[in-house]
Amino acid sequence: KKYTIVDKETCIACGACGATAPSIFDYDDEGLAFVILDNNKGTAIVPDEYEDDLQDAFDGCPTESIKIAEESFEGKIIKA
Ligand code: F3S
Repeated sequence: KKYTIVDKETCIACGACGATAPSIFDYDDEGLAFVILDNNKGTAIVPDEYEDDLQDAFDGCPTESIKIAEESFEGKIIKA
C-alpha cells in the first residue's frame, strides 16, 4: 500500500501532477498541489487503481515535491 503527500514548500505549481493523476492531486488557490484523498495529510491509502498514475506523477514532478511512502505520513513531509 502507498501513501502520498506534496511538499508545498518546494512545489512550483507546474501543474503536471494533477494532469497526470487527477484522482489524486488538485491545486489550491495559489496553484500549489495537494493530495485530494486526505487534504495533503498523507494519511489515506492510495487506491490500487491509482498507483500507476501516482508513480507517473512522482516521476514527472520537476521539483521532486511528491513524496511516496509505504506508511502514513501523519501530516509530516519526510525529507529524503
Ligand atoms: Fe507541484 Fe510537482 Fe505537482 S511542482 S504542481 S507537485 S508536479
